Amino acid sequence: MSLALKNSDDIASMRIAGRLGSEVLDYITAFIKPGVTTGKLDQLCHDFMVNVQGTIPATLNYAPPGHKPYPASSCTSVNHQVCHGIPGEKILKNGDILNIDITVIKDGYHGDNSRMFYIGEPSIQARRLCEMTYQAMWLGIDQVKPGGTLGDVGHAIQSFAEKNGYSVVREFCGHGIGKKFHEEPQILHYGKRGSGMTMKPGMIFTVEPMINAGRRDIRMLGDGWGVVTADHSLSAQWEHTVLVTDDGFEVLTVSAGSPARPALSTASA
Ligand code: MF3
Ligand code: CO
Ligand code: CO
Repeated sequence: MSLALKNSDDIASMRIAGRLGSEVLDYITAFIKPGVTTGKLDQLCHDFMVNVQGTIPATLNYAPPGHKPYPASSCTSVNHQVCHGIPGEKILKNGDILNIDITVIKDGYHGDNSRMFYIGEPSIQARRLCEMTYQAMWLGIDQVKPGGTLGDVGHAIQSFAEKNGYSVVREFCGHGIGKKFHEEPQILHYGKRGSGMTMKPGMIFTVEPMINAGRRDIRMLGDGWGVVTADHSLSAQWEHTVLVTDDGFEVLTVSAGSPARPALSTASA
């Protein structure tokens, strides 16, 4: 399979788009509390992107084949929502967990990332799921280096998640990203070590595992976008956009407010 590698100009632009994408999540953090609606958070993100950053919200009117245009500037997925939650009238309450997924376009380049947020005080189980999913994403990123395979990334995520009693959603995956929102290759969050495409310097893709507390099966909501766990168990997701460098990786979606790399990840570095 042929796959366009990014040149140094592309990479410089992707660093900027990645930082801006991360700064939207930094910005919205202070507004996330009991009583706020997902629609209000989306409006705040939209206005920050358009009026402060001068970025374009990539999700707004995004219409891949077989989908109607996505109607918002963020995805807000609460509790048992796996991904692609459409922001709206839903009022967040104490104990909810929330994924906000933001993709900006700057100078034609995309920066895609998401984080989990707690509304007030989460349950012990909810906090553990969010923390473990963060670790799973980072253990996947740790595998990113020239000569490694995409199966190494998926295997690291799947084995960690399943060892801890969780399941990995298979219907959605990470993706190449650049001038297009979703490019080749697909980044599966499960797999076998040594399988799949070999990574090369200049590849840029997302790592964005969706991890369920219960079974991995999902259901689509009637709105054409939202995805929930079939068993209504909690689901969490984190996402970074990552560059394959000459000797490893560089995370592009970083900013002043990025959560620290977990100890489990830095220990293996
Ligand atoms: N940001 C999501 C991703 O990580 C894609 C969202 S597409 C939307 O790939 F249309 F649902 F917003
Ligand atoms: Co993505
Ligand atoms: Co995303």
